[in-house]
Amino acid sequence: MTADEKNSAPTILPIGEPPARRIAFGSMQLTGPGHWAAPANPERAMQVLRDAVDAGVTHIDTADAYGPFTAEKYIRKALHPYQDGLVIATKGGLTRQGPGKWAPCGRPEYLRQCVEMSLRRLQVERIDLYYLHRIDPAVSMEDQLAVLSDMQAEGKIHHIGLSKVDVSQVRRASELIAVAAVQNKYNITNRVFEEVLRLCELAGIAFVPYAPLASGRLAQPHGVLDELATNYNATPAQLALAWLLHRSPVMMPIPGTSCSTHLHENLVAAQIDLTREDVVAIGLAIDRNPAASVM
Ligand SMILES: NC(=O)c1ccc[n+]([C@@H]2O[C@H](COP(=O)([O-])OP(=O)(O)OC[C@H]3O[C@@H](n4cnc5c(N)ncnc54)[C@H](OP(=O)(O)O)[C@@H]3O)[C@@H](O)[C@H]2O)c1
Repeated sequence: MTADEKNSAPTILPIGEPPARRIAFGSMQLTGPGHWAAPANPERAMQVLRDAVDAGVTHIDTADAYGPFTAEKYIRKALHPYQDGLVIATKGGLTRQGPGKWAPCGRPEYLRQCVEMSLRRLQVERIDLYYLHRIDPAVSMEDQLAVLSDMQAEGKIHHIGLSKVDVSQVRRASELIAVAAVQNKYNITNRVFEEVLRLCELAGIAFVPYAPLASGRLAQPHGVLDELATNYNATPAQLALAWLLHRSPVMMPIPGTSCSTHLHENLVAAQIDLTREDVVAIGLAIDRNPAASVM
């Protein structure tokens, strides 16, 4: 894909819209330790989902692997019938062997089953946004994307996304399918996928940073980020999210939390105004301070 080429996927995530429309909710924390099985308090998990939608969140990120199946089941239980305009993005192609254990499986017949079972668990006829959770190196990318493309043609998937991919994989995939979203790890202290972000900007692909709070470490006392946050009358988590929202118009952060207080704290990030100069200055302040890097 060249800089001039435009991705043909009509956007399902609100590219270019104000921060309050672009901040979403990640559901991986609504599971037990190691993202395995149920959390201690399932009712509390479902209340966080309801609170997110009540607070205006219109994009919920999940995956069959969270639990596995737990997060998808809670989403249906808490939110079905779904509010108009709510985008539920799910993923398949990552298997579970126990707490904290994940392994890719991209065999087409398995991916087809993943999609069918997510449709059933979420109780929808079509999945808004379906990510290949990992490209399985043991199966050709063409075969993995072909089955998702077939299911898109069958009306079972609306948009297709990729997760944990590099620039060459996004380019290759874009020759086969319309890539609507890329979900990679990215936060203020971990900008390894800067080139992928740039490609998404050029191609009009939503960039969905996972671990936007560095899996919670940016919400803990953090030195330089704490000092910067006080300048904006914000918490470190809020500044870390506001920075992402202002970093790029294609950025759709999905902070994850199991706690409604944290959810509401995180959503306030969308109200923090940062200029382009602020974004550059905050990024440089973090870069100049190696101790700030929590990856
Ligand atoms: N595509 C992929 O391979 C992939 C991989 C990982 C994650 N994801 C997606 O990305 C989402 C976000 O990533 P993540 O959940 O791993 O990491 P994250 O959003 O960076 O951080 C989540 C952690 O931060 C804590 N937290 C959140 N807000 C807080 C606040 N205001 N104050 C204090 N602590 C706070 C949460 O604990 P509490 O529960 O106590 O709030 C949780 O432990 C996931 O939920 C999932 O949907 C995708």
